[in-house]
Amino acid sequence: MQEVLAAIVPAPGLRVLDCTLGLGGHAEALLAGGATVWGIDRDPAARALAEERLASFGDAFRVLSGTFAEVTAGLRAAGERFDAVLADLGVSSMQLDDGQRGFSIRSEAPADMRMGDGCPADAIELIRSSSADELADILYQFGEERRSRAVARALKAAVERDEISGAQLAAAVRGAIPGHQQRHPALRSFQALRIAVNGELDQLRALLAILPQLLCAGGRAVVISFHSLEDRLVKESFRAGKATGIWDDIARRVQQADAAEEARNPRSAPAKLRWARRAGAGAAP
Ligand SMILES: C[S@@+](CC[C@H](N)C(=O)[O-])C[C@H]1O[C@@H](n2cnc3c(N)ncnc32)[C@H](O)[C@@H]1O
Repeated sequence: MQEVLAAIVPAPGLRVLDCTLGLGGHAEALLAGGATVWGIDRDPAARALAEERLASFGDAFRVLSGTFAEVTAGLRAAGERFDAVLADLGVSSMQLDDGQRGFSIRSEAPADMRMGDGCPADAIELIRSSSADELADILYQFGEERRSRAVARALKAAVERDEISGAQLAAAVRGAIPGHQQRHPALRSFQALRIAVNGELDQLRALLAILPQLLCAGGRAVVISFHSLEDRLVKESFRAGKATGIWDDIARRVQQADAAEEARNPRSAPAKLRWARRAGAGAAP
């Protein structure tokens, strides 16, 4: 939070687009500092809660429904420009902790894993409809799972036996990976399935491509990512944009939560923040 407010200093009249509203924690802090915030979320439950929580900010706050790739394309077409655009990627704690949505390796509900709008299939359908080779590629690329072929076969067999809860799929993955591991071995595969179900990397690529066109000259893009696949995309995109003059400054190093925030909220530990500043008018397309 501190790092976000250092990169986007809220002030009356500042227009901020929050691409990942969630429950509105960042949006609330920006609104409290006097900014106007438009918040996007693909999850109808998150939108309803944020809308209720932040209703007291009146016209300064507006909720937009859909994926950020889709909504930002519409905003660009409408000629909207912002002083700052924020994206705090991935799932929210609310989504992870809701046992009914099947994101967790402990969930007793079917492993759905859809965040909301714009997901053609849930995780069970993805496992069922992919060949073992296709599924292994997903696990390897998005979860860096080295035993991807064995895990893919185990997941497909579990779904065929109708063992489709988060906990049952996690047990199937554990059975396919020998030896003791410090972290539950299914966490890598669950990350991969979630990324694939929600098209997370395609969403991020689309957002990174459109970001400069959403910002006023001197405006800031701020992206918080939670794993190396995302952070790599952000780093490469910002560096390439700096080289071509789209950005006139970018974060020289990644920023992470301080010890106090990490102690308060252990899920902030892997978060990596990068920012980029839009070059002056006429310097870039
Ligand atoms: C990490 S949480 C954001 C938390 C928020 N910054 C806060 O302070 O409460 C991520 C949120 O972004 C949403 N989200 C993730 N990817 C999205 C996408 N491609 N389009 C729209 N919303 C997305 C999720 O549904 C989730 O509610």
